[in-house]
Amino acid sequence: MEFIKVTEEKEPFVALIELNRPKELNALNRQLMEEVRDALQLLDKNDKVRVIIITGNEKAFAAGADIKQMADKSAIDMLMIDQFSTWDQIRKTKKPIIAAVSGFALGGGCEFAMTCDMIIASESAKFGQPEIKIGTMPGAGGTQRLTKAIGKAKAMELILTGRFLSAAEAHFYGLVNKVVPVEMFMQEAFALAKEIASMSPVATQLAKEAVNRSFETQLDEGLAFERKNFYLTFASEDQKEGMSAFVEKRAPNFKGK
Ligand code: CAA
Repeated sequence: MEFIKVTEEKEPFVALIELNRPKELNALNRQLMEEVRDALQLLDKNDKVRVIIITGNEKAFAAGADIKQMADKSAIDMLMIDQFSTWDQIRKTKKPIIAAVSGFALGGGCEFAMTCDMIIASESAKFGQPEIKIGTMPGAGGTQRLTKAIGKAKAMELILTGRFLSAAEAHFYGLVNKVVPVEMFMQEAFALAKEIASMSPVATQLAKEAVNRSFETQLDEGLAFERKNFYLTFASEDQKEGMSAFVEKRAPNFKGK
């Protein structure tokens, strides 16, 4: 594993996955997500694991999908690469997953945290879907999951402006379970994990499945729709301009083409 670190039994019955691309603020390249998928598949089969925590570091949970990996892709490249099929497999993990979030959880990072089952946030956590600022839109569930989590008005505002939600606001809107000081967020995530790990793993798995069923009945359709539109933004000059501007560290000049 190059971009993640997996500890199967960090605490009894609790596994830990740490995202480990700190220089890039844990930007989620395809290999990283494939490593997460493979780790989750193994942990799902491991009887010594009942709950999984996924975390980044204090500065960043993840600052989004890797813009540099996508910047020059065409809509058809994106369609054929089909990077989100990895995310679909992650979503099918049977054991409960807690995201322990500190610092940036942006774009794909926010979507990844929302793909988990619960979120414990540090006071420094910042959530957002800033894809609009680089000429594209959320592609890994943001338009669907954020809207369901915090309601249409606030989700629309965040997705259309790219503004960030502070940890306190994220708590107010029901996006996160709990906000604690930075030095406490891992401890808090482990406390929650250990409490859940003390329950019947069979009941836990079935209950998770049932909660998700209520949440996801119409999700497949929403995700498929979102994905096509996300790929379509790669047919625009504005996406190329937005992502190039990010890589070149300058302001974008969008032309509506
Ligand atoms: N992809 C690739 N590299 C990224 C990245 C990303 N999403 N986010 C940060 N990085 C890299 C930066 O390029 C920089 O690398 P270099 O030192 O080599 O230049 C390094 O991480 C540190 O970043 P900054 O210097 O920008 O750090 P900062 O503290 O000044 O700013 C930030 C932090 C506000 C998070 C800023 O990095 C930022 O805006 N990142 C992009 C956020 C974003 O737009 N995310 C959405 C991505 S698209 C997406 O996720 C699509 C989807 O739905 C799946």
